[in-house]
Amino acid sequence: MTIKEIFDRMDYGPAPEGNAEVKAWLARHKGSFGHFIDGAFAKPGAVFATKNPANGETLATVTQGSAKDIDAAVAAARRAQPKWARLPGHARAKYLYALARLIQKHSRLLAVLETMDNGKPIRESRDIDLPLVARHFYYHAGLAQLMDSELPGMAPVGVCGAVIPWNFPLLMLAWKVAPALAAGNTIVLKPAEYTPLTALLFAEITREAGLPKGVLNIVTGDGETGAALVAHPGVDKIAFTGSTPVGRAIRRATAGTGKALTLELGGKSPYIVFDDADIDSAIEGLVDAIWFNQGQVCCAGSRLLVQEGIADRFHDKLKRRMDGLRIGDPLDKCIDVGAVVDPVQLATITDMVNGSEGEVYHANTPLPAGGCYYPPTLITGLGTASRLMQEEIFGPILVSMTFRTPTEAVELANNTRFGLAASIWTENVNLALDIAPKVRAGVVWVNATNLFDAAAGFGGVRESGFGREGGWEGLLAYLKPVATAKPLKTVTAIAEPASFDAPELDRTAKLFIGGKQARPDGGYSRAVFSPKGALLGHAGLGNRKDIRNAVEAAHAAKGWGKATGHNRAQILYYIAENLSARAGEFATRLKDLTGKEGRAEVEASIARLFTYAAWSDKFDGQAKSVPLRGIALALNEPVGVIGALCADEAPLLGLISAMAPAIAMGNTCVLVPSDPFPLAATDLYQVLETSDLPPGVVNIVTGPHAELAKPMAGHMDIDALWSFSSTDLSALIETESASNLKRTWVNNARARDWMGLAGEGREFLRHATAIKTVWVPYGE
Ligand code: NAI
Repeated sequence: MTIKEIFDRMDYGPAPEGNAEVKAWLARHKGSFGHFIDGAFAKPGAVFATKNPANGETLATVTQGSAKDIDAAVAAARRAQPKWARLPGHARAKYLYALARLIQKHSRLLAVLETMDNGKPIRESRDIDLPLVARHFYYHAGLAQLMDSELPGMAPVGVCGAVIPWNFPLLMLAWKVAPALAAGNTIVLKPAEYTPLTALLFAEITREAGLPKGVLNIVTGDGETGAALVAHPGVDKIAFTGSTPVGRAIRRATAGTGKALTLELGGKSPYIVFDDADIDSAIEGLVDAIWFNQGQVCCAGSRLLVQEGIADRFHDKLKRRMDGLRIGDPLDKCIDVGAVVDPVQLATITDMVNGSEGEVYHANTPLPAGGCYYPPTLITGLGTASRLMQEEIFGPILVSMTFRTPTEAVELANNTRFGLAASIWTENVNLALDIAPKVRAGVVWVNATNLFDAAAGFGGVRESGFGREGGWEGLLAYLKPVATAKPLKTVTAIAEPASFDAPELDRTAKLFIGGKQARPDGGYSRAVFSPKGALLGHAGLGNRKDIRNAVEAAHAAKGWGKATGHNRAQILYYIAENLSARAGEFATRLKDLTGKEGRAEVEASIARLFTYAAWSDKFDGQAKSVPLRGIALALNEPVGVIGALCADEAPLLGLISAMAPAIAMGNTCVLVPSDPFPLAATDLYQVLETSDLPPGVVNIVTGPHAELAKPMAGHMDIDALWSFSSTDLSALIETESASNLKRTWVNNARARDWMGLAGEGREFLRHATAIKTVWVPYGE
């Protein structure tokens, strides 16, 4: 070919990255790997092959982990944990720093291995995955260093089990291993079956870093191995990234075990383009949003929403850009799109697209023969309810739809059960920052996409899971309070005495729904007696329908989330003032109900209302120090509708302690008051009615905790459920919560000192908020 011809065609020549070092590394291990347990590789057992999806070649065989292997790994992690946790933060920081340095040193080997095992373009593994992995270890070296001074009173959870997917094998490992080790935990990690190799190379690197034996253990295998790790009684926390169905199964499997859980699940993230956007940038952004890693990205901008006026022009330009994408050998440095991870995934994608009722456009670009290749694809003309509009395809497929107004854009963006990420493209900063809080997602990128950093929390809401990875917020998921709470004591209602005097007037308290007192749907109530045998009144017995009505009222009141912190504080102060005016009456009521002096509880309730009035405008977000010309804001947003089964033993304070943080942070709530002593809560209706609280912000349904827990935990429109009941409902609530993967906060049969410091503070505020990270790059 002449130079003139090269100039005329302007074609790229191939620029393959060498893989000799990877082959040598595989050869050193004789192409076969056992698990990495207690600082050494075990002998391979029953093996399966891991293949290069670009050409189908077997790279190595790895071992299918059995329950026995998991046992051995957990035992090693358990043995190593106390000593690891006792190390000063500085000592752990040195190990994490060493790991960061070694990752940089071996980054070429790791990147090539990652590309060969996964099929992602070398440009991505080299320039995105590996730098982020190293950054994660550096950042967490810093957290380990600062933890002792910054997080007093917190201890590691113990042994962590991590189950990760195949789309970012090493990065997901880093996201789990770095915070776990920084916090003083040890870990057993199961990589995905398609992509176990970089985890095994990382294990080898930990030996070079001198990491003590048993601190990190890797057990390879499939879903069964993962399930065995999740079920193991010796594991204190599970951190999972993967599909929503498996996340749901893990929620159920860990229910009631007391294991901490974070789930980072699927998404169908909207990519919203307004008509004033910089279209060329938005098109380039889209290439990174949906064709990065062949679209196998949980937060991929897989749902394009483009404003109607520019839609045709945008689609035309997009198709031209798609035609220019280069698909092929992932080790070639000139390649934009590599291979899909496995023939199974390729078949899933192909079937989903073939079953589509929309107009399908495949990029007009050559596909290499052999290998798991799928062309970049755009599908238009789908309805909002269409399967491909709703389900995660996890491939290089973009679905597109138009909108007319910003309100419609938000409606369409939120028309999904997921809530992981969103991109907003507009040159109008006012519009962008108005839309960002309205989109239900854990991460929002303004005029950008797929930005990640160790300092900025990443994670979802709704069926995209719960928990954040990265930042101080991510570290907290690997810690627990040092103080251990006492076991729960069941508090039972006073039984009906053999004989009692009925009061002259029947006093049957109703429920409090939508700002009004409402009769229980079932029409039943129960008598409440004092310990001295007097009939104090009746309390309504709420049922599933009452919960439904209360949730509807709570949803209708969601405008509360937009009220300012100052405004919410005013109302909390007003409730406190009105309660204070009737303090004597409430103290007497508490004494009548429980037989114990009530004044201290009333005073504590007033103080607690003041505490959260104070917090209303002080639980600030953060601006994160990310390596970017721009800002990453961590906003504390309300969770939505919070349900709470309130403490039995503190009839007034228990209710206030759940209600006040919830509404201070802008949530609306459905509260089930003390089961044995409900009448202190029903007396509160009048206080709430006279305190300018908008109807529906607080709803109170009296009734048996054990019966109401199930419909609440299973309710699709309750976003979080807390249980402080003296009946241990933890297992039931966690199991049922899998329906919509709501956040749960249960007591695991442990008591709480409501009068003391454990009864209020940041722990409550964290449960009452979801962090949304909003990335706003800037510069001309
Ligand atoms: P998956 O959720 O089945 O696998 C993720 C990890 O969980 C793997 O390590 C797997 O071995 C393990 N696992 C599977 N079943 C388990 C169980 N019962 N208990 C414990 N661990 C278990 O995802 P898979 O099958 O690889 O991909 C299927 C679909 O899931 C994809 O097509 C994609 O739509 C979605 N997916 C989403 C990811 C995300 O980050 N959002 C990541 C990977 C897959």
